[in-house]
Amino acid sequence: MNIAVIGANGQLGTDLVAAFTAHGDDVYAMTHSHIEITDRDSVSRVLEEIQPHVVVNTAAMHHVENCEKEPAKAFAVNGLGAKNLAVVAQSLGAVLMHISTDYVFDGRKGSPYTEDDSPVPVNVYGITKLAGEHFVRSNAEKHFVVRTSGLYGKSPCRAKGGLNFIELMLKLAKERGEVRVVDNEFVSPTSTADLAEQLVQLSRLDCYGLYHATAEGSCSWYEFAQEIFALTNTPVRLKVAGRGEFPAKVRRPEYSVLENQALKVRGINSLKLWQDELRTYLTGRVKSESLQVDN
Ligand SMILES: NC(=O)c1ccc[n+]([C@@H]2O[C@H](COP(=O)([O-])OP(=O)(O)OC[C@H]3O[C@@H](n4cnc5c(N)ncnc54)[C@H](OP(=O)(O)O)[C@@H]3O)[C@@H](O)[C@H]2O)c1
Repeated sequence: MNIAVIGANGQLGTDLVAAFTAHGDDVYAMTHSHIEITDRDSVSRVLEEIQPHVVVNTAAMHHVENCEKEPAKAFAVNGLGAKNLAVVAQSLGAVLMHISTDYVFDGRKGSPYTEDDSPVPVNVYGITKLAGEHFVRSNAEKHFVVRTSGLYGKSPCRAKGGLNFIELMLKLAKERGEVRVVDNEFVSPTSTADLAEQLVQLSRLDCYGLYHATAEGSCSWYEFAQEIFALTNTPVRLKVAGRGEFPAKVRRPEYSVLENQALKVRGINSLKLWQDELRTYLTGRVKSESLQVDN
């Protein structure tokens, strides 16, 4: 199949390009320099040329503080950008796989959110991503809207810059010997490599609709850090950060754990326990480090 990956040099996009390529598809890796999703003409021009069977949209403005400062820009990318892709995909008869977020929920449910739960976003990022979901669902007949959370991968997240949580923890431990992490925000940390495999599988099917796709299980950021240090035998003093020690500039859901109900009902959930995905990531990291040393 012809697959257009939008945001191809991003954290998830990089692994999607690798996964579709490994499965034998013709992959068109579209970075921001190839396509501007807020511009309908740019979207039409690029996609008409490719004639994709599937368009996977990972592009987003998802730095939460920046979204709050520039809501119109966030809506242009997360809302209208998604709409442009949906309208053009529909006109070409293509499937649109659109990546969304756990931040469409307010985090007050206290147990994992399924696709049946009503979204109630609490910040501009969540509101604009929810708008994007609605645009996709109402403009593209053949769509997958896939919500995920807590991504980490070998490519850094371009919107947030710097290191992913795992690399940041390991760096801080090495430099400071003591790390303080909050224990009152819960997520399902999800490996982009595993998510990409799941998305390839889903792209082969015609059971369109809304999906949650995160690693199984959940943890606080503190527990995530604890597991990272345990699996890497890192000597560190890990402490729970005091309430108010890292004051949030923007309201966020405290508990945004997702349940992959729709994937499970269809018998196609391939995502693993978060601890297993983390172990695989850390093993790959060690391998690539020793390769660099060998070279
Ligand atoms: N990261 C997380 O923890 C997380 C959690 C839940 C959901 N998600 C969702 O997952 C998706 C992928 O996240 P990620 O971490 O892979 O993001 P990322 O690393 O920031 O990658 C996003 C990509 O989209 C491109 N892009 C941004 N604006 C664009 C525009 N207007 N037109 C065309 N391309 C544009 C970026 O290019 P430039 O950098 O060159 O602008 C970048 O290549 C997003 O939709 C996000 O909302 C992420």
